[in-house]
Amino acid sequence: MFNAKITGTGSYLPEKIVTNKDFESILDTTDEWIYARTGIRQRHVIAEHETTSSMAEIAAKNALDAAGVDASDIDLIIIGTSSPDRIFPSTACILQNRLGVGDCAAFDVQAACSGFIYALGIAHQFIKSGGAKKALVIGAEANSRILDYSDRSTCVIFGDGAGAVVLEASEEVGILSTHMHSDGQYKDLLYINNPIKDQQQDGENAHMTMLGNDVYKVAVKTLSRIVDETLEANNMTKSDVDWLIPHQANIRIISSVAKKLKMPMERVVLTIEEQGNTSAASVPLALDLAVRDGRIKKGETVLMEAFGGGFVWGSALVKM
Ligand code: ACO
Repeated sequence: MFNAKITGTGSYLPEKIVTNKDFESILDTTDEWIYARTGIRQRHVIAEHETTSSMAEIAAKNALDAAGVDASDIDLIIIGTSSPDRIFPSTACILQNRLGVGDCAAFDVQAACSGFIYALGIAHQFIKSGGAKKALVIGAEANSRILDYSDRSTCVIFGDGAGAVVLEASEEVGILSTHMHSDGQYKDLLYINNPIKDQQQDGENAHMTMLGNDVYKVAVKTLSRIVDETLEANNMTKSDVDWLIPHQANIRIISSVAKKLKMPMERVVLTIEEQGNTSAASVPLALDLAVRDGRIKKGETVLMEAFGGGFVWGSALVKM
């Protein structure tokens, strides 16, 4: 059994910013409503020439640089995304080609906003068992391409971006545990229809549909449970956690999980105000921000958690 350690982080946010004020001119909404209900002020949106894989490439290169690892040494690539470049080949395969990496395994994980946590959990198992030595684990989303910009209840929430980590087999303890769950009975509360089949049926482009209020209630309960599960699995108490990196879905959901952990908001990494909900990219984007600005230090314990369409939810407890 090997340890799996995060040795480098990286991220990318598109240049274009859309503010809440920008939405006021095209939708029946206000900056005040969006900020009060979600904590979001603005989000980044990709340019015409950009794709999920082009964002993932920049995030991956930043993480490789930070880890001091050459792309040619990577033996596993996993991308969590629900907005892939193509249905197939996977965005991970497209990224592999962009990076010029050899013939390693490369695949996407489709677990909505929990995509990065799922990808990290899978890579952790690969490394623990000796199946890989150096993995690129990424969350990347072009959410703006799967939104209905006439639906004020979804389009104001989501943003684009990518975050990446290099996960390496190590002598040192790194990932302490990962946890993944799902419950398909909630499949109709948050979904995107199949763009090939359903587009033909209803004549509309496939786009995200969310019953936000119902999602909200289940998310709060479920994330509180997974915090307990993660701490128990490691015989740890709330005070052992130095940082919380939550999926950035809604500031009110984040605050309630922090309260459950008795964690002051200064120990919670927040990006939601500037980035909105970047789905699978939100956790690695926040991790990279807090590593690079010096908040998260080597040896500290970080709890990451996420919840999304499925429903799917998960967590990772990590010694940095
Ligand atoms: N501006 C103004 N009014 C709006 C807007 C808007 N942008 N959007 C919705 N409203 C209106 C609604 O139409 C509704 O009006 P009505 O009462 O006249 O019918 C009213 O505001 C209240 O709507 P709710 O949906 O009840 O508002 P809520 O307080 O629940 O906030 C939100 C909505 C922000 C979406 C919240 O429910 C939420 O964050 N849910 C969780 C989202 C989440 O965690 N998703 C999981 C991850 S995402 C993924 O997996 C892809």
